[in-house]
Amino acid sequence: QQQERSELLKAYELSARVYRSILMNTVQGRDALAYLRSRGMSDELIETFQLGYAPNMWDALAKQLEKSGFLLPSMERGGLLSAKADGQGFVDKFRDRVMIPIHDPKGRVIAFGGRAMGDVQPKYLNSPETALFHKSHSLFNLHRARTDIRKREQIVLFEGYFDVIRAWDAGVHHGVATMGTALTAEHAEAIKRLTGEAVICYDGDSAGQAAAFKSIPLLEQAGLIVKVAMLPDGKDPDEYIAAFGPERFVREVIEGAVTSTKFRLLYARRNFRLQEEADRLRYLSGAVKLIAGLPSPLEREHYLRELASEFDVSLDALKADVAELLLRRE
Ligand code: CTP
Ligand code: MN
Ligand code: MN
Ligand code: MN
Ligand code: MN
Repeated sequence: QQQERSELLKAYELSARVYRSILMNTVQGRDALAYLRSRGMSDELIETFQLGYAPNMWDALAKQLEKSGFLLPSMERGGLLSAKADGQGFVDKFRDRVMIPIHDPKGRVIAFGGRAMGDVQPKYLNSPETALFHKSHSLFNLHRARTDIRKREQIVLFEGYFDVIRAWDAGVHHGVATMGTALTAEHAEAIKRLTGEAVICYDGDSAGQAAAFKSIPLLEQAGLIVKVAMLPDGKDPDEYIAAFGPERFVREVIEGAVTSTKFRLLYARRNFRLQEEADRLRYLSGAVKLIAGLPSPLEREHYLRELASEFDVSLDALKADVAELLLRRE
């Protein structure tokens, strides 16, 4: 078991090197390199993130692994190869994909994300759960971000690989990604061991916002202070940076992140047409309920004041509503 793990670590390290060298040094890698350039990836970024390319062949990696003396059945269990349908031998699991290495906290390669370049489904093929890789507590880029997470006393959570990479290029060196799986309580516990504050920076589409909404209680239950960065027009961080540039991303999106309460108040609006009186009242009453649930009187006052001024109602009326709710709760 231990033996197989350490073999697998070596195999992943070799695979990352093979994919990398195919991307940088061969004709087969040319389209992939052009793809990465078209997505704004400089040589320096490609180097930092050790990006590679799995060629459009059945056995490019299998041959290398075999040559280096690895046992192919255990490479299949390790997620690098697939068993052929007829049971006769093994083929590469990743073909014609840009390869993004995923590391453990010690910086060892334990998995890959593979991005298809065309409209091939699935868009991303990720390594399966193996002896090395457990999605529920892996975070992409954690080993690189760790120092900056400590230094800035904050972590930034993204959805995707390219969001992390682009944000890194913009100077956000304390970002990680959950890689498509939802954030888990285990992730939250691991984050709490490093820092006290998390900024959720998920995609601006409705799926991303719903995921942000769900992640807040998980992070707060682990004892983290949570902020949410908001992206306009359904953009994701990568698209935002491509459209508006890195400085504006840092200044407006990251530094403009709102408190979790503010986010929940904003998120609740999606169900209402606030130009209409009846909806406005229903929204206000929901907002007051949310605010009444806050433990701190100071915070309650703060958000009530914001509501009062935005909706042109008296602060006293809102306070009276909260007081009534709190009384009923006792
Ligand atoms: N993901 C995945 N499998 C998929 C789709 C997504 O594993 N079929 C994961 C990837 O880690 C991806 C993340 O979920 O980076 C976020 O998904 P999405 O927003 O759909 O992809 P992007 O990261 O925006 O992908 P890209 O920019 O490359 O189009
Ligand atoms: Mn740094
Ligand atoms: Mn998304
Ligand atoms: Mn996205
Ligand atoms: Mn994207």
